Amino acid sequence: MRAIRIDRFGSGADVLQHVQMPTPKVHPRCVLIKNEYIGVNYLDINQRTGLIHIPVPCILGREGAGTVVAVGTSLAHQFAPGDRVAYLGNYTYAEYSCVCPKAIYKLPSSVSTETGAAVLLQGVMALALVTEAYKVKAGDWVLINAAAGGTGSLLVQICQQFGAKVIAVTSSPAKAQCLQNTLGVEHVLFYDQPDYAQEIKRLTFGRGVDVVYDSVGRTTFYTNLGCVRRGGNMVVFGCSSGKVPPIDIGILACNNVKLVKPTLFNYIPDRAEFDRFTYQLLDMVQRGQIKPLIHRIYPLAAIEHAHRDLESRSSVGKILLKP
Ligand SMILES: NC(=O)c1ccc[n+]([C@@H]2O[C@H](COP(=O)([O-])OP(=O)(O)OC[C@H]3O[C@@H](n4cnc5c(N)ncnc54)[C@H](OP(=O)(O)O)[C@@H]3O)[C@@H](O)[C@H]2O)c1
Repeated sequence: MRAIRIDRFGSGADVLQHVQMPTPKVHPRCVLIKNEYIGVNYLDINQRTGLIHIPVPCILGREGAGTVVAVGTSLAHQFAPGDRVAYLGNYTYAEYSCVCPKAIYKLPSSVSTETGAAVLLQGVMALALVTEAYKVKAGDWVLINAAAGGTGSLLVQICQQFGAKVIAVTSSPAKAQCLQNTLGVEHVLFYDQPDYAQEIKRLTFGRGVDVVYDSVGRTTFYTNLGCVRRGGNMVVFGCSSGKVPPIDIGILACNNVKLVKPTLFNYIPDRAEFDRFTYQLLDMVQRGQIKPLIHRIYPLAAIEHAHRDLESRSSVGKILLKP
């Protein structure tokens, strides 16, 4: 089968190797899935560059959706060949993936395989951010960085569904237009606009926001901290601009801010938690309450373009690969 592997870390997409390898055999406690769509995440970039360390050589990719083609003997009562599924796993930049059942979800008939791949990882994360990292309530002011991104655009929609007032932050007029026209966000700011902090104070009547969802990290952390209301919440869940350097926790005392640094896989330690989040997420999809924005679907062979789009900040919404 065809797959995309890295043999070493690299700051450029040129380290992505196109390889031929044997199709995996199904493990007795796993399911073999023929991937129809593979989700591309910023996590993949961080793993490629070595910012998040993984053992190499390694096939990249953490999610996909497709059809079950073989079932391990111990899982015959749970899955069957032909099941349409979306899943989180490892080594998914490939035509086939052998996946442990902890994070495989059978897709309802009304959710397409493409949509399943487009929402799973980023959507479960967005839902966990809104229901666990900080419980968003109707009327809350919510500040979302990289709001036009894959995770950001789902986070915006989920916050809107929960009745929050969203302030979206992005880097370009094209992304701002998408946030306003497609997602209906009233308040869109640019990180570098000179009156950024004053504008947030003005919108929130001098109070500051109830929560910041910061996925950008190094370049936004301190500005964001200054926008949180007294006793408010700062959720830093990504570092697209680089890791936040070590901080003196004393700075949180300036406004009694609660700081959280969550990671997806600690919200879904077992199948029950994964199923709970995924059920709620796909329920919102089926009700039309959230709709993934698809930036582009690239063939697996064009993986370099997918990575460059993400790193150059030119993508709006989700990037998918088709093997
Ligand atoms: N903790 C977890 O378990 C978890 C789970 C999911 C995602 N995440 C994190 O959430 C973030 C978003 O992930 P995603 O997959 O949805 O990606 P994404 O938001 O679709 O793409 C990254 C976005 O980050 C923004 N950005 C800001 N500074 C950047 C820079 N210097 N270089 C590149 N991009 C920059 C850009 O949006 P603007 O142009 O609008 O700024 C860019 O479009 C990532 O940091 C990811 O690691 C974490």
